[in-house]
Amino acid sequence: MSNPALNYRLRQFITDFAELLTKESAEPIVLEQGSQLLKQLIEHDDWLPDAFAQPHPDRYQQYLLHVDSAQRFSIVSFVWGAGQKTPIHDHRTWGLIGMLRGSELSQHYQRSVNQSLIPIGPAHQLQVGQVETVSPSTQDIHQVSNAYSDQTSISIHVYGANIGAVKRATYQPDGTEKSFISGYSNTLLPNIWDLSKEPATS
Ligand SMILES: [Fe+2]
Repeated sequence: MSNPALNYRLRQFITDFAELLTKESAEPIVLEQGSQLLKQLIEHDDWLPDAFAQPHPDRYQQYLLHVDSAQRFSIVSFVWGAGQKTPIHDHRTWGLIGMLRGSELSQHYQRSVNQSLIPIGPAHQLQVGQVETVSPSTQDIHQVSNAYSDQTSISIHVYGANIGAVKRATYQPDGTEKSFISGYSNTLLPNIWDLSKEPATS
């Protein structure tokens, strides 16, 4: 259960991330320092409003939590129902993925000389509290699945753009691309700004 008195966790994260992007533009530094900020956010699983933690019986959900006013970054909660997975896809911007609840598997791919996709090693399992990165400058093509066939998993993602509006691609194993714009599952955003709900000290 989420607690409105703990909205400050997400609010502080937004403030700190915006400050980081104002100070730093080099992607490796943003990913390194941003990972530390995301680890601090997902250290506690008590702040994500329940409305943004609901699985859908048929498909994974991507709930927008925040977009920076200059669209420098966006924050999304990905909610995986039991056994759900993405298609193979890319991002076309840097991304941070932090495991809040449950566990997920990420299988990265690279193109072969004939353009088909080859898995890079075994799938990487992300556990609660861990953060991984994606980027067009390193590894940007992957497929993500809920590591559990019998429970919901939730990860918090940060991207270097308004990710739901980015034109990117899904892939078939033979490398065939299909253009897509993901959008978001929600139409309303969490209200993390009602300070009357919070202790005066926070
Ligand atoms: Fe992804």
